[in-house]
Amino acid sequence: MTAFPENFLWGTATAAYQVEGAAAEDGRGPSIWDTFSHTPGLVANGDTGDVACDHYHRLDEDLDLLAALGVGAYRFSISWPRVRPQGRANRPGLDFYERLVDGLLARNIAPVATLYHWDLPQELEDAGGWPERETAYRFADYATLMGETIGDRVHTWITLNEPWCSAYLGYASGVHAPGRTEPAAALAAVHHLNLGHGLAVQALRATGAKDAKMSVTLNLHHVRGVSEADADAVRRADAVANRAFLGPMLEGAYPRDLIEDTAAVTDWSFVRDGDEATACQPIDVLGVNYYNPTLVRQWDGSSERATADGHQDGAASPWIACEDVEFVQQPGPYTEMGWNIDETGLTELLLRLHRDHPGTPLMITENGAAFADVVTPDGRVHDERRVDYLHRHLTAVAEAIAGGADVRGYFVWSLMDNFEWAHGYAKRFGIVRVEPGTLERVWKDSAHWYRDVVATGKLPG
Ligand code: FCB
Repeated sequence: MTAFPENFLWGTATAAYQVEGAAAEDGRGPSIWDTFSHTPGLVANGDTGDVACDHYHRLDEDLDLLAALGVGAYRFSISWPRVRPQGRANRPGLDFYERLVDGLLARNIAPVATLYHWDLPQELEDAGGWPERETAYRFADYATLMGETIGDRVHTWITLNEPWCSAYLGYASGVHAPGRTEPAAALAAVHHLNLGHGLAVQALRATGAKDAKMSVTLNLHHVRGVSEADADAVRRADAVANRAFLGPMLEGAYPRDLIEDTAAVTDWSFVRDGDEATACQPIDVLGVNYYNPTLVRQWDGSSERATADGHQDGAASPWIACEDVEFVQQPGPYTEMGWNIDETGLTELLLRLHRDHPGTPLMITENGAAFADVVTPDGRVHDERRVDYLHRHLTAVAEAIAGGADVRGYFVWSLMDNFEWAHGYAKRFGIVRVEPGTLERVWKDSAHWYRDVVATGKLPG
């Protein structure tokens, strides 16, 4: 029986645009995801987050759901355009998050708040978006507002969720909002996200949030080579995907090889003196989102280049300066996203982070799986593949802990089925089912299973 440390934080995660709905209520302004999802052809089935899980109106019910699961923490995100549309504080929007945080605390659940889970106010994109330096400053203003509003009650602040996606899927491959395909702009976005992270940590610390833990969530890619001959392909992919963020945020400098590899795309002149130091604010815990590893091979041009990568749906690639890197199909089984299931990558990734950044505690801020769930006639969802996925990955976390990694918590993605970005509602990650149409919450077997894991702090079997 695998056991976890005493104070291990067990939670589930969601994000504002994926669950809240109420997109035009109480003064909320539009975000880039409203614009993107309302543009025909960009999201599967024409789905939008207009209603989503209607979490905005079902807050109390969802808080009770969390309490019934027994989780010690809940990771949610704040909708920037709900609280600060057009750069002005919006009281009704702020009230919603006050009720959310107070409702969590009343149920003994630690609030873990993500400031940016991809829903940039549309007016900031109209002014240039993340490729513009100004956006980092506006992000810090927003952080100040949230610190002043709920900073005395939030347990952990996560500045950004997966800036890899914001920069490369938003501005290079264009499969995410705002849907631009401009590699140089994507690298400028990388930098302004790093800068915005540092400014936001400073801003939060300057407000009532000074006792809270500070964090940022990265979707680090565990990159493996097909053989030892692929070491340079691994290095390149690791530079753009991982060290582009780990470097400035944890070490105060961009890796030299990244600057060299991308020289044909940009001269990085948007990095000003002092920026890397600003990005490198001390954090208390690093958030890690993990779904599957990445397999690469050096491409020699003799055959068609393999581009197997779960994220690589669009015509343009998110992998800047990786023209001679092949992304190789990995063996199954696969989830409904087409992502291979391989928990060994999680253990290896956590041990690598422990080795490279020994002073930085880690937390799994997302892990989970989409499957085509079937409801039985008696209204049950026997999602044994999701239970198996979670079991495997929690075992992998325990192995990393046994190997010395300082892992403080684990959050299942997701509490409930929700708007899975460009895939719309078809891809279901929830441990709780959201019934299409009625939006009724139905516990899947995985929710029952997770409740027992949380209650005992152990994996069964
Ligand atoms: C991550 C996102 C999260 C969810 C999962 C499946 O990249 O952070 O919102 O979509 O993938």
